[in-house]
Amino acid sequence: MDRHSFPLLSSFLLLMLAMKALRGHAETTEPNQRPYIVYMGEKPREFVGLPQLAHLELLQKAIGLSNEEASNRHIYSYTKSFHGFAAMLSDEEAKKLSGMEGLVSVFPSKKRQLHTTRSWNFMGFPLSVPRASFESDVIIGMIDTGIWPESKSFDDAGFGLPPSRWKGICQSNQNFTCNNKIIGARYYHLQGNIHEMDIPSPRDSEGHGTHTSSIAVGGLITNMSLAGIANGTARGGVPSARIAIYKVCWRYGCYDIDILAAFEDAIHDGVDIISISIGGYIRNYFEDAISIGSFHAMKNNILTTSSAGNSGPNNFSVGNYAPWLLTVAASTIDRKIITRTKLGNGEEFQGRAVNIYGLDGEMHPLILGENAPNISLGLEAIIDSRYCNEGTLDGELVKGKVILCYGVSDGSGPLRVGAIGAIMESYHANDYSSEFLLPVSVLESNNSIQLRNYANNTSNPMASIYKSEGVFDAAAPYVVSFSSRGPNPLTSNILKPDLTAPGVDILAAWSPLGNPKVPYNIISGTSVSCPHTAGVAAYIKSFNPTWSPAAIKSALITTAYVMSSTNNAEAELAYGAGHINPLAALNPGLIYDAQETDYIKMLCGEGYITPILRLVTGDLSTCGFANNETALDLNYPTFALQTQHGKSFSTSFRRTVTNVGVSNSTYYAIVNAPSNIKINVEPNVLSFEALLEKKSFSVKLEGDANETIISGVLIWSDGTHNVRSPIVVYIGQNPYEL
Ligand SMILES: *[C@@H]1O[C@H](CO)[C@@H](O)[C@H](O)[C@H]1NC(C)=O
Ligand SMILES: *[C@@H]1O[C@H](CO)[C@@H](O)[C@H](O)[C@H]1NC(C)=O
Ligand SMILES: *[C@@H]1O[C@H](CO)[C@@H](O)[C@H](O)[C@H]1NC(C)=O
Ligand SMILES: *[C@@H]1O[C@H](CO)[C@@H](O)[C@H](O)[C@H]1NC(C)=O
Ligand SMILES: *[C@@H]1O[C@H](CO)[C@@H](O)[C@H](O)[C@H]1NC(C)=O
Ligand SMILES: *[C@@H]1O[C@H](CO)[C@@H](O)[C@H](O)[C@H]1NC(C)=O
Ligand SMILES: *[C@@H]1O[C@H](CO)[C@@H](O)[C@H](O)[C@H]1NC(C)=O
Ligand SMILES: *[C@@H]1O[C@H](CO)[C@@H](O)[C@H](O)[C@H]1NC(C)=O
Ligand SMILES: *[C@@H]1O[C@H](CO)[C@@H](O)[C@H](O)[C@H]1NC(C)=O
Ligand SMILES: *[C@@H]1O[C@H](CO)[C@@H](O)[C@H](O)[C@H]1NC(C)=O
Ligand SMILES: *[C@@H]1O[C@H](CO)[C@@H](O)[C@H](O)[C@H]1NC(C)=O
Repeated sequence: MDRHSFPLLSSFLLLMLAMKALRGHAETTEPNQRPYIVYMGEKPREFVGLPQLAHLELLQKAIGLSNEEASNRHIYSYTKSFHGFAAMLSDEEAKKLSGMEGLVSVFPSKKRQLHTTRSWNFMGFPLSVPRASFESDVIIGMIDTGIWPESKSFDDAGFGLPPSRWKGICQSNQNFTCNNKIIGARYYHLQGNIHEMDIPSPRDSEGHGTHTSSIAVGGLITNMSLAGIANGTARGGVPSARIAIYKVCWRYGCYDIDILAAFEDAIHDGVDIISISIGGYIRNYFEDAISIGSFHAMKNNILTTSSAGNSGPNNFSVGNYAPWLLTVAASTIDRKIITRTKLGNGEEFQGRAVNIYGLDGEMHPLILGENAPNISLGLEAIIDSRYCNEGTLDGELVKGKVILCYGVSDGSGPLRVGAIGAIMESYHANDYSSEFLLPVSVLESNNSIQLRNYANNTSNPMASIYKSEGVFDAAAPYVVSFSSRGPNPLTSNILKPDLTAPGVDILAAWSPLGNPKVPYNIISGTSVSCPHTAGVAAYIKSFNPTWSPAAIKSALITTAYVMSSTNNAEAELAYGAGHINPLAALNPGLIYDAQETDYIKMLCGEGYITPILRLVTGDLSTCGFANNETALDLNYPTFALQTQHGKSFSTSFRRTVTNVGVSNSTYYAIVNAPSNIKINVEPNVLSFEALLEKKSFSVKLEGDANETIISGVLIWSDGTHNVRSPIVVYIGQNPYEL
């Protein structure tokens, strides 16, 4: 029976709603009110009456609002792919509302940040890889800052019409148009107004969404570079695939209300893969727009790839850790962008920065920031001038010079007072290159004494900063310092991030309205590694259109290149199973599959209760003896165990693998156990006689942990396929847990 049957309300309310629809977005109301999301789970099989009216009635009933007030507070109703609405509420009202029957959660719509090419060759995925004809039927949904549709990377020459199942639209406001490559585009700003510099259309005025889109699906653009830097062929992972744009990020940020609306549309429109390089920290899977949206995507057979976040290297900094998400860390490729600088005494330093200007060879006077304070601005300026902060420097002293700064800033301080360049000393890992407002080279702090000595004690200190260049980096790949690290802050025994992909110094398409105003730009971030993974997931899907999201995820995880902990002491907590390996993932042999019911069992074990889970699933799911599972038993392709120092443990994991390799095959368990842990796999031989046959086994870990992180591995091998799963035992108390 349909749970949601509400009487039709008065025609007055209908009129109010219609007027609101014309007026548009949430208005500024009482200061104690803010936008809240009311999540009601799976959508009813059919709505009786208008769902919007039911939402208004709920607002009236729960907090005693008048018709008109309720309609003023209502912002948006989610009805297509799941059920819920957004409204302006005070915290007290939200609490009252959350007591009502039929709701999963009521949570404030938070603001989130973006997780701000040679990369494909680097990951062993050259131009010549086999392609499935179905590739042109695969659609990636990109939730980001929009797209610059005129970029060469999205040229649709040679593309046929979109697949007939496509239900999306092109909100072609202003001069924005779609084509047979960009087959859908929508934009959302339900929560308040946009900045005057923002374009109210799916057009990208920032650059980020154009970058991520071209990494995933961009066509082949030869001889591309940023002002000659990082030259080569720019291309996406699946150049024949289509893309649908969901613009949710604006200059003011990206809001949950809009993100959830984008998920709802992407699911309804018929995308195959969703890529979202936006994130945040959560305490409950159903009080988070990305977890909720991606859960319903999973139910609809759509894998969501997400960025792990740029809050590393602190542990527990990973975001987007729902078990149905693929969580991607960022690592280096074998080409890094460097910027050399040279002093008047001939000494040369290799620094980081993407510097398109270049003072090539020209020497300019060099001055120390602390020797150039604007004294009239007082003591604070005198102290802070060493950081070259804006409003601390003396223009007379700095103009036309290269300035040496303590720490890294965006360069607006030196630029404002007419500096010609800046040398910055980084007191953090200096393992990626950023863009600055003027010529900059960021040097490691160990060069500081030499630099300062020269700048302060030479009669005419001089320096030059060169244009950036790409150089070979033999140490690659390693996870970059900013990439967020595990352990998983919410479900301790699920390993996150899942894997790593290129996310450092990557050239891809850009918005000419962005900063800098260039058609292709070089940026770094887990924002960048996420669409690489979406591209590979689409590639796998093009060969295996029927695979579930968990199957695609498993294929990517169990075939990842093994990474070394030499450069990343946090090991799997930094890189998960390892580095994405697109070609190997085509043929994983065995997969660890999972469906909605598997995640529900795990959620039961995590303490989520039956009435809530019934709303989420839209069926009669029940937690109980048969349906309770701990996270240890979720059919995940990796194994993680949280424990305490010196405490001995004996813990079993249960798993089931599905044969997708060769019908008659026998796999043997190969285990690599660290010396202080015993790993026992039972049974340790799995024989298959048919494709899609399933076999179960258990993995028992015994020992006591004397180190922060202990890594082992289980490989199921039939001699051809090596189905590899890391086994991680770690000591760590989540600092966010009270
Ligand atoms: C479309 O409009 C934007 C501003 O709204 C402008 O910057 C851009 O150049 C226009 N593009 C084309 C192709 O006309
Ligand atoms: C590549 O681009 C550069 C700069 O735009 C140009 O000078 C050069 O002739 C191009 N090379 C080829 C082979 O097209
Ligand atoms: C990039 O440009 C340099 C200098 O023109 C050239 O030597 C190099 O071969 C180019 N690399 C690629 C990948 O095109
Ligand atoms: C110092 O700061 C004051 C106040 O902002 C400004 O008016 C003045 O021009 C500055 N002096 C120099 C030499 O930059
Ligand atoms: C600073 O460290 C880098 C590598 O970490 C090294 O290449 C460089 O030579 C060092 N500089 C000095 C002055 O020791
Ligand atoms: C040279 O400069 C450094 C750093 O600015 C300073 O600590 C040192 O005392 C100076 N040495 C001489 C001999 O002036
Ligand atoms: C620069 O050198 C002078 C004289 O040697 C010294 O007094 C001063 O502290 C130095 N400045 C800095 C910033 O190190
Ligand atoms: C299911 O798991 C929850 C949470 O761990 C627990 O409280 C409950 O007792 C379990 N129920 C059954 C039937 O095992
Ligand atoms: C698989 O093995 C079974 C029994 O070992 C045999 O009967 C069957 O013919 C084999 N099938 C194939 C495709 O080799
Ligand atoms: C932990 O135990 C193992 C095996 O007993 C040993 O090899 C290792 O050195 C120990 N590590 C520490 C930090 O004590
Ligand atoms: C997390 O970081 C803290 C502080 O740096 C450290 O003591 C702890 O061992 C780390 N835990 C893990 C699991 O890495």
